[in-house]
Amino acid sequence: MKYLIANWKCHKKSSDVQNWVTETKQAGITGKNKALELVICPPFIHLSLLRNLLPEIQLGVQTLSPFSDGAYTGAVSALMVSEFAQYAILGHTERRQYFGETDQIVANQALQALDNSMTPIVALEKKNWSSQLSQFDPGQLKKILVMYEPSEAISTSGGEAADLHDVQQTAQLIRGGYPIKGFLYGGSVTAENVGTYMHAAGVDGVVVGAASLDAHSFIHLYHQFGI
Ligand code: PGA
Repeated sequence: MKYLIANWKCHKKSSDVQNWVTETKQAGITGKNKALELVICPPFIHLSLLRNLLPEIQLGVQTLSPFSDGAYTGAVSALMVSEFAQYAILGHTERRQYFGETDQIVANQALQALDNSMTPIVALEKKNWSSQLSQFDPGQLKKILVMYEPSEAISTSGGEAADLHDVQQTAQLIRGGYPIKGFLYGGSVTAENVGTYMHAAGVDGVVVGAASLDAHSFIHLYHQFGI
């Protein structure tokens, strides 16, 4: 099975979400595809709306509290979101850069996700993949999806998608050292290049940011899979 993860980041009002769903449903994207796990990761506030509008599509969050429920003002726990979401993107470059998330915080978030039967999608770059992954034991790694996303490959940083050879080499290195559940690539994935990454050796799927926001561009990308 391949993964297509849409990371909406901090975008969309609820009316935008409704329009996006209407258009993608009309295009026949229902989530009922055994060969492809489609996961939409909206801001927390839209989880309940999306759960109702798209009961068959998997949902994910873009961060989590590293703590369980308790006196943590402003936090959203894995227990709370597990009612709606099955996945959690953790340690995204933007979370590390703007919100001070460290390898230790990300490890604690991932443990919270695992304790609540969610699948962590741990975001990594070349400079931190080994320090981050060495925080987990093999039993935990088997349940973790790795998302390799060099920060310079993120579309909004003005970058370009990573070189396929680099992605495959990193997949091979990580898989050689850590028994992970799967390896995803993220960074400037578009309708034009999605097939290349999706079908690359050692790659189980992609994470799409900007190209998932507009329904038309997302529908176009979805139909490139050939799955
Ligand atoms: P991008 O973002 O597809 O816009 O590069 C991907 C991400 O940062 O998750």
